[in-house]
Formats: sequence, C-alpha cells, structure tokens
Amino acid sequence: MDSLPTIRASYRRLSPLYDVLEGAIFHSGRKDAVALANKRANQRILDVGVGTGLALPLYRKDAWVVGIDASPEMLKRAKARVERKRLENVGGLIEMDAMRMAFADRSFDAVVAMHVASVVPDPMKLIAEMKRVCVPGGDILVVNHFASSGGVMRLIEKSARPFAEVIGFRPDVRLMHLADGARLQIVQVRRVNLGGYWRLIHFRNTAPADAAHRNA
Ligand SMILES: C[S@@+](CC[C@H](N)C(=O)[O-])C[C@H]1O[C@@H](n2cnc3c(N)ncnc32)[C@H](O)[C@@H]1O
Repeated sequence: MDSLPTIRASYRRLSPLYDVLEGAIFHSGRKDAVALANKRANQRILDVGVGTGLALPLYRKDAWVVGIDASPEMLKRAKARVERKRLENVGGLIEMDAMRMAFADRSFDAVVAMHVASVVPDPMKLIAEMKRVCVPGGDILVVNHFASSGGVMRLIEKSARPFAEVIGFRPDVRLMHLADGARLQIVQVRRVNLGGYWRLIHFRNTAPADAAHRNA
C-alpha cells in the first residue's frame, strides 16, 4: 500500500462493507491471536489497526484495551460496536499512525496487529513501534499473510505486487525480515484462516528497543 492519505481514502470507501467482506472469513485467526493475548490477567493490551473493532469483544474483561487506527471511518464503527456491546474493558479508540505511535515506551503488556502489516507503507516501522510500546517480556502478536517461500504461490504473489493498491494489501511481506529486523524472538508460528494461508506469529519482546527504528 501507499501513503497514509491513500490508506485513509481506501478504508473510508471500504468501511461500510468491511465487516461483511472481512469479518467472518478472518474470525478464526482473530480468535486465536486474542486467545494468546488473553493468557495473562489484568493486562494493558494494544490493538493496532483495530479497524471496525471486530476483535474487541474477544478480549478478556479484566484487560484494559486500547485500539488505534489511521481511519476515522473505521474507528467510528469500532466505537459504535463498543457502545452496542457495552465493552467496558475498552479504554480508548484513538486515531493514530501505527508507524509513529504517541505512546510512551513500554506502555502495554501485549500488542496485537491483525491484517495490518501488509497494509502499512513500512511493516518494519510498524513492528519496531509495536516492540517499543510493549514491555520487555511482553507478547507481540501478528496475524498476516506472508510471502510464500517458493512455488506457484510465490510467483503469484510476486506478480500481484504491482497491484497492491488495487487488492488492498501487499502480498510479499516477508516474515523473517520482520522478525530479524526487529530482533524479536519467535515463540510460535501457526497457520490460520482460510486454508491456512495466513499466519499467526507470536513474538516475545526479548531484545532491548532498537533506537535505529524509533520513529525513523
Ligand atoms: C485490513 S484492516 C484490519 C482491521 C482489523 N485489525 C481486523 O482484523 O479486522 C487494516 C486496518 O489497518 C488500518 N491502518 C492501515 N495503516 C495504518 C497505519 N499506518 N496506522 C494505523 N492504522 C492503519 C486501516 O485503517 C484498517 O482499519
């Protein structure tokens, strides 16, 4: 995807249809990711690129959950969901660029980003920011489509790359680039969603924050 204004424009158009198009088909991956974020009691959890808030009802009630998103229209729908479902554990839904978060270092115990890494202009900055705002030892959970390592799928993904704008996500984000670049420990990688074509990555925030990635 391209710049933030382009992303905002895409999600302004997509927001009324988002739950129908991307709700049920990605639900199992969201459930699996949030289940890992929910492991410990009384946590501060950040949902990055919260969208229309489809995952918000899944967080445990003793958590304090904050969602951020670049799109006001997506956030409006998330806010309506919070009110409709009386989600008292949701402490804030804030318009914010995930690549330049306004939070202090170590503000959250767990940080989750579902279907966001292939949408932001720079996935490395996204991961670096997730790491910065997460406490050492905290959980970082990413659900995304990642580039296949070879075969026909790799060819399809490569040829789809120029059309990222049209298909709404970049099909060639490389998992190991993210993990290595951010110097995060991978706890587990699990295939999720339709046909296992998406992956849930559970990182542990082990390494100290990397100054080079801070709001670079
Ligand atoms: C595919 S949707 C995923 C929404 C939600 N996580 C879900 O699983 O349904 C991607 C979301 O990321 C948001 N987004 C894209 N770039 C962003 C950025 N730089 N900062 C914050 N949010 C961003 C979009 O506005 C959109 O709501």
